[in-house]
Amino acid sequence: LARGPVVPDLAGRHVVVSAGGTREPLDPVRFLGNRSSGKQGYALARTAAARGARVTLIAANTGMPDPAGVDVVPVETAVQLREAVLKAAADADAVVMAAAVADFRPATYAAGKIKKKDNQDPEPITLVRNPDILAEISAERARSGQVIVGFAAETDDVLANGRTKLERKGCDLLVVNEVGERKTFGSEENEAVVLGADGSETPVPYGPKEALAETVWDLVARRLE
Ligand code: CTP
Ligand code: CA
Repeated sequence: LARGPVVPDLAGRHVVVSAGGTREPLDPVRFLGNRSSGKQGYALARTAAARGARVTLIAANTGMPDPAGVDVVPVETAVQLREAVLKAAADADAVVMAAAVADFRPATYAAGKIKKKDNQDPEPITLVRNPDILAEISAERARSGQVIVGFAAETDDVLANGRTKLERKGCDLLVVNEVGERKTFGSEENEAVVLGADGSETPVPYGPKEALAETVWDLVARRLE
């Protein structure tokens, strides 16, 4: 994908990117988590910085080194991610929610390690819902004209599911990818369609996560003009 010299079209902008996957603790040694690597979020942070933006990267359990020239806020849980996103979004021109947020968390946290007891079945784990951060920031809009982007991995009727989700969340753009073999989790490559609240559909062919990131920033920059 040949691109010309980097145009600093995000200079003077503050963008917030969430990356990785939240972990919801059960006890001091165990958590419920997911397989999100954080690579797409890091690609978004790097490319935005290269295009001149001030970048806040809210990193949930990614285990990757901080990208140069980016403010990194480490978090673990969905509740911590929400706090960090709301704080950073207050003066942001754009927010991209690339993180996989656990939908539920254990209702209780055991301060001591959960032990098994002789010949006893385990206690069931009760879950409660986590806050929907993307829906919340889309409804509140900390700043007028702020551009908000979500990500969704879907199966079956990917585009129809994506449209429904975009409307339900109230964001401006939703990057939809199909969950499949070589795609998405831990891979270096991605393929997606970016749906716009204005009805637009931008296909992004299978390729590096950087290329998808650049397309996201192209669409964001156009909406910020
Ligand atoms: N998201 C969020 N807060 C949550 C769940 C998801 O901000 N509690 C964001 C994700 O970061 C992502 C987008 O919403 O950008 C879509 O996530 P997804 O899991 O596909 O949406 P859900 O509403 O949780 O729908 P589903 O039931 O399909 O998981
Ligand atoms: Ca979910």
